[in-house]
Amino acid sequence: MKKICILGSTGSIGTQALEVVDKYEGKFEVEALCCASNRLILKQIEKYKPKFVAILDTNLANEIKNKFDDVEVFTGHEGICNIAQKKYDLVINALVGISGLRPTITAIEAHNNIALANKETLVAGGDIVMPLAKKKGIKILPVDSEHSAIWQSLTAKNVSRILLTASGGAFRDKTKEELVNAKAVDALKHPNWDMGAKVTIDSATLMNKGLEIIEAMHLFDVDCDDIKVLVHRQSVVHSMVEYQDGSVIAQLSYPDMRLPIQIAMLYPERGNFAFEKFDFVGKNLSFEDADEERFPCLKIAKYCAKQRGLAPVIMNGANEILVKAYLDNKIGFYDIPYYIEQALKTFYHGERITDEQQIYDTDDKVREYVLNLIESR
Ligand SMILES: NC(=O)c1ccc[n+]([C@@H]2O[C@H](COP(=O)([O-])OP(=O)(O)OC[C@H]3O[C@@H](n4cnc5c(N)ncnc54)[C@H](OP(=O)(O)O)[C@@H]3O)[C@@H](O)[C@H]2O)c1
Repeated sequence: MKKICILGSTGSIGTQALEVVDKYEGKFEVEALCCASNRLILKQIEKYKPKFVAILDTNLANEIKNKFDDVEVFTGHEGICNIAQKKYDLVINALVGISGLRPTITAIEAHNNIALANKETLVAGGDIVMPLAKKKGIKILPVDSEHSAIWQSLTAKNVSRILLTASGGAFRDKTKEELVNAKAVDALKHPNWDMGAKVTIDSATLMNKGLEIIEAMHLFDVDCDDIKVLVHRQSVVHSMVEYQDGSVIAQLSYPDMRLPIQIAMLYPERGNFAFEKFDFVGKNLSFEDADEERFPCLKIAKYCAKQRGLAPVIMNGANEILVKAYLDNKIGFYDIPYYIEQALKTFYHGERITDEQQIYDTDDKVREYVLNLIESR
């Protein structure tokens, strides 16, 4: 039995990870669960009987303490790290945003292997997370479908390029003029994937692809200039690796996040549960360049990937606040890239990352600054 901890068990990735647990009876023991405030966790505790639970919300944590005698309950951000530092075979990090960074580092320090969905961990903290994982001999297994595809396609050295595919998001066919007034409610209607709100908005702005460039750069130790984004509307080719001899290896399947989740959870084995098989007959697969004019977040992310250091930290912090404001209908679609650029102009002066605290201090300052800009509009 693989002992697992799922951080963010009530979310899109977390619930699908539990579906994988259900499909492989006797293979996984769910030792720990964690969420912010979602009452779905009560049902998950009843079903999976974890030893440890971490809840951000204190009231829900107290309710769980009173209801379940056999569960050790932790609360707050510290509580998440408390459970991440217990001993497991795998910690699945499906938290959203930079809140996933400290638990990732805590889990690595406790010698836990990690299945990583929380891309913001590597965007903001890749410069310290990857060297730490290497030093401790910890595996960081990708859950993001694109990175899982790259991982599966990396069969040899002499790589020339990573071809990172993008669905194009909900607004891929909108003109720039239409995008000016495009609303979050429409951005949430993703054509191919059913995901959490933050990543769905990031998909609509193409910031998600920018975050993924940075994630890939850290995970696979490649130069960001060697990562090419291709808009692929069908979301069947999940990404590709091009080799110096001109051959390209790709991974294909219908879009279903349970497949990359299962691959990471079962590693080094390959599972036998079959998701729907891809039928090639009569299918057209198309590939286009991404339009950075209409989707400037991608351009900004590429700039930040090239800069490394604090640039991705600033971009990520600003983006998290701006996505929330967009979801709350407080700002427009193009305010997202506009304010990210303001934050970069104000806070980025070529700084390298020297320690973890510097990341949180910068993130805090950026969030406060962007919040003030939004409030004072
Ligand atoms: N969904 C996908 O298909 C997909 C695909 C590729 C990559 N990803 C990446 O995977 C990560 C998770 O995405 P998602 O779509 O699963 O998000 P989601 O549906 O919003 O779920 C987030 C989970 O994290 C919990 N959470 C959020 N903030 C927390 C905090 N401060 N402390 C404790 N728990 C917290 C939530 O708890 P509550 O339910 O209580 O709020 C929930 O369980 C993101 O980084 C995303 O970019 C997702």
